[in-house]
Amino acid sequence: MKHYFESNDHRRDFLSGVLSGQVSLKFAYAGSSARTHDSLARSDGYRSVTLAAELEAALLSTQELPRARLSLIDVGSGNGDHTIGLLSRLLAHGFILERLTLCDFSEELMSMASERIADAFPKLTTRSMVWDIELTSLDLTGDWSEDSVLLLVGHTIGNPDRPDRVLQHLRASVPDGAPLLLSVSLRSSDLGEADVLMPYRTDVFESAVLEPFLALGIRREALEFEVSFEADSVIGIVTLVEQANIDGAVIPSGHRTLAFKSKRFAASEVFALLESARWRPIASRVDNGHLAIFARAVS
Ligand SMILES: C[S@@+](CC[C@H](N)C(=O)[O-])C[C@H]1O[C@@H](n2cnc3c(N)ncnc32)[C@H](O)[C@@H]1O
Repeated sequence: MKHYFESNDHRRDFLSGVLSGQVSLKFAYAGSSARTHDSLARSDGYRSVTLAAELEAALLSTQELPRARLSLIDVGSGNGDHTIGLLSRLLAHGFILERLTLCDFSEELMSMASERIADAFPKLTTRSMVWDIELTSLDLTGDWSEDSVLLLVGHTIGNPDRPDRVLQHLRASVPDGAPLLLSVSLRSSDLGEADVLMPYRTDVFESAVLEPFLALGIRREALEFEVSFEADSVIGIVTLVEQANIDGAVIPSGHRTLAFKSKRFAASEVFALLESARWRPIASRVDNGHLAIFARAVS
């Protein structure tokens, strides 16, 4: 299996993160990591963390939205499975889908998702845009219509270091009044640390986190991986157990990199994050540890 980055910029930025001791999780979705993420997303443990399509569609169906021609902009769209699940359920709720835009850091994941969505919904017009939501907003106002809804589902907001900035970037990308559907996995007081970590103590999860390190050219045998639960977040640390020389940089044996972080929110934290980024929550639903919120952009 070939290990690769989508671009030299990704390689440079990932290496710079490793050297600083913390990398953005976005690299674990791009290049050859798209494939390892896809295997992970299709494994049962992860499915239960991310798939909440029924809840999301039920929430949207209670809102004042144009049922005859819905246009969805799916940000952090992933491998397409969640999108397909959500679209199917929206159709069952009587929505007619006019247009779908996929936005993601990973071109590879978007092309995988586009193919799957085209197979499932051959008549749907779909397009894709690369967008790094950690870094910038994207002017979506030109394309925006009264039928548009922004999606940020599947706990995508739990991964960035600064979820507040991501929500600000989304807000700056759309006109006042624009609707957003956000979904997250909630922190549970019923689950012990071992239960929370169970879906992450698997070979498929480890492979997904380590893939960008392999794309740098580091040997699998030179990497150790451990997960833990600290301060409401699942944390994954990669330790190098032999010195590596990468693109002129020397990374010493014992070097540690924070390579995975997934924050579990209390519902009140998500509402506060939205409000602070000028998204007003209008309605929400909770089921089985998932929270879905429908919000609108305010000035
Ligand atoms: C947890 S997955 C969720 C995927 C999908 N929405 C789902 O529910 O299955 C996170 C998604 O966000 C994307 N992503 C992560 N960081 C990103 C960033 N900085 N900018 C844009 N997309 C990002 C990943 O490539 C991936 O597709």
